[in-house]
Amino acid sequence: MKYRVIIPAAGQGKRMNVGKNKQFIELDGVPVIIHTLRVFDADPLCDGIILVVNEQDQLFFQHLISEYGVQKISEMVIGGQERQHSVYNGLQKLQDHEVVLIHDGARPFVEQDKIHELVDVVQKEQAAVLAVQMKDTVKRAVDGYAVETVERSSLWSVQTPQAFLVPVIQHAHEVARQQGFLGTDDASLVEYMEKKVAIVEGRYHNIKLTTQEDLLYAEAILNSRQ
Ligand code: CTP
Ligand code: MG
Repeated sequence: MKYRVIIPAAGQGKRMNVGKNKQFIELDGVPVIIHTLRVFDADPLCDGIILVVNEQDQLFFQHLISEYGVQKISEMVIGGQERQHSVYNGLQKLQDHEVVLIHDGARPFVEQDKIHELVDVVQKEQAAVLAVQMKDTVKRAVDGYAVETVERSSLWSVQTPQAFLVPVIQHAHEVARQQGFLGTDDASLVEYMEKKVAIVEGRYHNIKLTTQEDLLYAEAILNSRQ
């Protein structure tokens, strides 16, 4: 089944702290956002990319898209204050699509086989996310003291893409907006509606570039591919 993908890329990259949009950082001479867009450009199941950007970067995004010959951008949309608002703006551009994927612009190493697994699962489950099992022991702390060790086998680090039937995620975002609920990912809005979100096991190297040490890992991932 074909899908449309929304790529939020309208953040400030504050934790990366490089004085520019982290999605413009070059890896192997190619900007991060282009690495991300190329995955979907090359996927025959992807029938269009809705790219969400902030106003001040819009011209530069347009320049990169034409310089690198990205084909499948169907719309460029202006983002909002939080990631959730950016995705909301992207969701307004869907028409008669059945399945939508939402994928961070700053997560360039997702692979086509995992995207296809997600697309298969979402048709039956309505909502599905890529995730990997936690490696660390996780504790809950109060005032600097550990008070609980959380059972690790039930903990997952959630990634993107996250996949949804279009009416399900549009409704979840609408309800969250009306009730002032702010989640850190899209699946949490579906969970807020007390609906199930299926987990599809992903790969650890599908990292989001968040802080500067992630760039070292990113270089290593690229080198290992060559
Ligand atoms: N994003 C967005 N609109 C926002 C905030 C984030 O479209 N208002 C996008 C980012 O561009 C990024 C993705 O959502 O591709 C994941 O967000 P995150 O890693 O938190 O990026 P930033 O918000 O840019 O970084 P930071 O939180 O460190 O400022
Ligand atoms: Mg952020």
